[in-house]
Amino acid sequence: MAVILDGRTFANEICEELKSEVQKLAKKPKLAVILAGNNPASQIYVKNKQKKAEYIGFESVVISLPSDVTEENLLEHIYILNEDDDINGILVQLPLPAGINQQRIIEAIEPVKDCDGFTSYNFGRLALGYKPYVYPCTPKGIIKLIEHYNIQTEGFNAVVIGRSNIAGKPISMLLQQKNATVTIAHSYTKNLKELAKTADILISAIGRPDFIKGDFIKENAVIIDVGINRTDSGIKGDVDFNGCLNKAAYITPVPGGIGPMTIAMLMENTLELYKIQRSFKN
Ligand code: GUN
Repeated sequence: MAVILDGRTFANEICEELKSEVQKLAKKPKLAVILAGNNPASQIYVKNKQKKAEYIGFESVVISLPSDVTEENLLEHIYILNEDDDINGILVQLPLPAGINQQRIIEAIEPVKDCDGFTSYNFGRLALGYKPYVYPCTPKGIIKLIEHYNIQTEGFNAVVIGRSNIAGKPISMLLQQKNATVTIAHSYTKNLKELAKTADILISAIGRPDFIKGDFIKENAVIIDVGINRTDSGIKGDVDFNGCLNKAAYITPVPGGIGPMTIAMLMENTLELYKIQRSFKN
């Protein structure tokens, strides 16, 4: 039976360490989250991020805007947050309402306050193999969890299903930097099942519940499930957990795997940005 990669416990440990570090700071880091529209999943994610930030001892502010917010109005909020010395991290929850140019909004964030690592400055540095101010939260959380369990990547075949800027694309770059041989699959990929079966490390970030069945995976593979799919029977990952449990060597559960790691990395990133910003002032 596979070892279950317990992201929740590890994320809690990381957050406890962050909390004790924050307790020693006279001035607390502050995270600003912009939530536009009323996407129910986004509302829950933002609430969870805010709750965790407050638990750790950060200050936080959530700016909720209506779904018909204009691009100009969104930009105005970002400019104000960029200029506000009290704000250390700015996160714009995605997806943005239809009609809003996401690229324009993300690019308006000052890179040193970009706690998601999504601006072209940070993402570009990641792509080039240079150090960004911070790495995107989900990929960073996956790598941390893999390393925590001493899982080797060097020379292994990794198949990443999904090519989004949030997950698939950056995780494939980080795995490559850890010397894995990486293949990225997406909706146009032919023979996905056969490809997935070649993976020593299979990462699914497609957003389709229970899509990865036991017969998609190689014996003793490492299975990382990035999917958070809301279904009538609750939250489901992309992976048929029970169907893969006896075949995989390691597997992440949903919930309790990559989700909590992502939030912990957001907290870590915010503290890192706080420190970088303070170092600029000295
Ligand atoms: N939507 C889904 N995941 C994320 C994330 O990591 N950051 C932001 N900003 N939006 C998201």
